[in-house]
Amino acid sequence: MLSDHYTRVPDLADAILSAYGDADIGIDDLAPADEFHLGGATATAALAADLGLSADDHLLDIGCGIGGPARRLASLTGCRVTGVDLTPSFVDAATVLSARVGLAGRTAFVVGNANQLAPDSTVTAAMLMHVGMNVADKHALFAGVAGLLPAGGRFAIYDIMRVGEGVFDLPQPFASAAEHVHVETPDAYVAALEAAGFAVTEPEDRTQMALDAPAVGSEQGPPRAVVQFVSRVGAAAAGDEQGTAALSLATVMGPNFLTMFENLRAALRSGILAPVQIIATR
Ligand SMILES: C[S@@+](CC[C@H](N)C(=O)[O-])C[C@H]1O[C@@H](n2cnc3c(N)ncnc32)[C@H](O)[C@@H]1O
Repeated sequence: MLSDHYTRVPDLADAILSAYGDADIGIDDLAPADEFHLGGATATAALAADLGLSADDHLLDIGCGIGGPARRLASLTGCRVTGVDLTPSFVDAATVLSARVGLAGRTAFVVGNANQLAPDSTVTAAMLMHVGMNVADKHALFAGVAGLLPAGGRFAIYDIMRVGEGVFDLPQPFASAAEHVHVETPDAYVAALEAAGFAVTEPEDRTQMALDAPAVGSEQGPPRAVVQFVSRVGAAAAGDEQGTAALSLATVMGPNFLTMFENLRAALRSGILAPVQIIATR
């Protein structure tokens, strides 16, 4: 099952929050662990700007993970966010983390499948961040999203897509087994979105943004020229100067995350995969 790939750490919210004890924390403190995509919080903020939400919106976050993007969108725009995810332990962690940072009132998380979205006439916008790589039938997925959104409603996609020929190694951060890898080209996304009735912007390759994204919590000054979570994983593997492991996506995915990320980084460097954003309008 795909959720087995993502279910690696028992008591996930505790594992994350134990880094902070009783401290007063906010969304940026969680970002090294809860923004599970290339470019981290930087990419989420860019997507938020392109979606153009207001406090009146109700955003559906499809494949919300442990809720970092949902909390950031709610914080940045004032909107309400409902996150749906296949992995029950992620939904549980997302709920606990939102309560801890005071966003329980504007974020809610439920277990569900992107291909069987429940009808909700209050939804005004949708997003999909680093999830489509796991979804085989994108035509069905996008038709389902189109059916939920009102005319003019926006749908932001930020996925790892195939941009070149070649084979990439597993495990990747998004899959351990080939049966869960459904990476497609930007053209295939656009075709599936248009078939579902969306008007689509030109796909934007966000590789450079991901490479330039500063590591959250970095005190080095200049941005590190690495994807946000690489440096945090490195810190976690080595242990920081106080002898405690830094918070990172390895906290969520376990120590094997370093191998997963190295395989992804190799595929990015060789031009096989890239993070790409597409904005679609119903
Ligand atoms: C790489 S994580 C990204 C999480 C989150 N969007 C983020 O950017 O932080 C991929 C997530 O997609 C979820 N997912 C994969 N396939 C799904 C499906 N068919 N329906 C719902 N969630 C799915 C996984 O459980 C996982 O939480």
